[in-house]
Amino acid sequence: MTQRERWASRIGLVLAMAGNAVGLGNFLRFPGQVASNGGGAFMIPYFVCFLLMGIPLMWLEWGMGRYGGIRGHGSTPGMFHVMWRSPIAKYLGVLGLFIPSVILFYYSYIASWTLGFALLSALGQMPEVPQQLDASRSPAEIKQEVLQPFDSFLKDYVGEGSQSSGRSAGSLLLKPRVFAYILFWVVVALNYWVLARGVARGIELLAKVAMPLLFVLAIVLVIRVLTLGQVVPGGQTPVDGLNFIWEPQWFIERGGREVFVLLDPQTWLAAAGQIFFTLSLGMGAIQCYASYLREDDDVMLTGLSTTSANEFCEVVLGSSIAIPAAVAFFGIMATRDIAEAGTFYLGFTSMPAIFSYIHYGQFMAALWFLLLFFAAFTSTVAMAQPFLAFLQDEFRIPRQNAVGILVALWVIGSHVCIFVRHAWQVMDYWSGTLGPPLMALVEVILVMWIFGGQRMWEEMHKGAELRAPRFFYYASRYVTPVILIAIFAGLVYQKITGTNEQTGLEGMPAGSIGVWIARGTLLAFAILLLWLIYRAFNGTHGDERQSGAAEAK
Ligand code: PHE
Repeated sequence: MTQRERWASRIGLVLAMAGNAVGLGNFLRFPGQVASNGGGAFMIPYFVCFLLMGIPLMWLEWGMGRYGGIRGHGSTPGMFHVMWRSPIAKYLGVLGLFIPSVILFYYSYIASWTLGFALLSALGQMPEVPQQLDASRSPAEIKQEVLQPFDSFLKDYVGEGSQSSGRSAGSLLLKPRVFAYILFWVVVALNYWVLARGVARGIELLAKVAMPLLFVLAIVLVIRVLTLGQVVPGGQTPVDGLNFIWEPQWFIERGGREVFVLLDPQTWLAAAGQIFFTLSLGMGAIQCYASYLREDDDVMLTGLSTTSANEFCEVVLGSSIAIPAAVAFFGIMATRDIAEAGTFYLGFTSMPAIFSYIHYGQFMAALWFLLLFFAAFTSTVAMAQPFLAFLQDEFRIPRQNAVGILVALWVIGSHVCIFVRHAWQVMDYWSGTLGPPLMALVEVILVMWIFGGQRMWEEMHKGAELRAPRFFYYASRYVTPVILIAIFAGLVYQKITGTNEQTGLEGMPAGSIGVWIARGTLLAFAILLLWLIYRAFNGTHGDERQSGAAEAK
């Protein structure tokens, strides 16, 4: 059996895992979720989910990854197979290939916007704005005036057609700017380059360069934003923005009613969803990175450190940039509207708009988008690696060729997202919202019940520099599965009761052709993956490998 790759150093591993987890989720998705789910009140379900679900799952995925890696499997079909000798185990593992790859399809395109906007900001190609903010106007009016040009700019960039032109607002195809399309290919090329170099010489090296840079950029931006002071005479300050995030608002308006945030299932679903997304849990991505550990490498302490690093980037840094800046300019009410209008409004319209009013704003905007780009880049390689590992481990395909196959499929998937309206939102619903809790549920049952809770607990503690309190054993065996079932039931219930005739399952217009193209793409991709798994384990390759393994014994 050929030797699998390994991380070269402990610090490299920590940075790579942190790079995996820290992404757009931390700097865009998190602030958006907090602002639209009751500010400080959201932190309660968020931390409950983090403790009862996030940490136990993280250890479990690290442990499972190392266990599978030692046995030659870096992706979940193989891992499930060695942990549960049932013919269906490997097919359940398809989730760990499907989810990260589909996220990669659209996430990589969004990553390319960040790079594009960084360049456009640096070159002074962002929209022009009137330089005086009129103090006599209300925050809502200021917001309207300041954001409008940037909103149109973003719509034009991705080819959604600005509202004013109306014409293409509902058509099937999007017409992105050529620049946007080229930048997508730049991002693919950069990923290709890193992935083809391999785990230690590619991914690990990237993390060693990008993560410290990301950190510095984030600190610079936090300082710049928090020292903005009062921008609009008589208006609010960034510190009011921090208060907005940290002070609980127990009652918020939702769907025309006043709801108590903590008793509204939607808040809990949002919190759990954020924990999955930001920690890359229930995706197959953590397991894959952990499969490049050595047998006696510590899982518990290192896993906890990278988790903490992610939480720091999220709760401390992520909440101190986009929201405080928006509050200083537009006030709290308008900021909530911006956040609710969608994650991208905070990042791609509000931030550059704000920066266009401050000294060296172009430069700061470029730094902001560069920060997002580094965060996204270290995550895209993590989404790509499970499928690569699958091809390499299960089919013995050399790395260079595996990267070629991956890129071919990836580019096809991304083209659907780039050109078909609503496609990426549909993919995000299946792989980013519904997928992870399902995957996590399968994992917890498989590991803590079928493989054996005690056995896994000991497995995770091999070579460990930290013993987890027994509390987490019970949490992952009993509490986590119950929470996961509740989340899943909640998501399904929400869909059954919450949809109306205009919006379909994914919250996108029902019956739109774009939605069906996206679903068809997903279905075809899932079938392809299942077939590959079948081939890998039952086809000639599998036989060869099994007999090979038998001879080796
Ligand atoms: N955790 C990443 C983020 O916060 C997203 C991600 C998902 C990364 C899946 C890897 C795999 O943006």
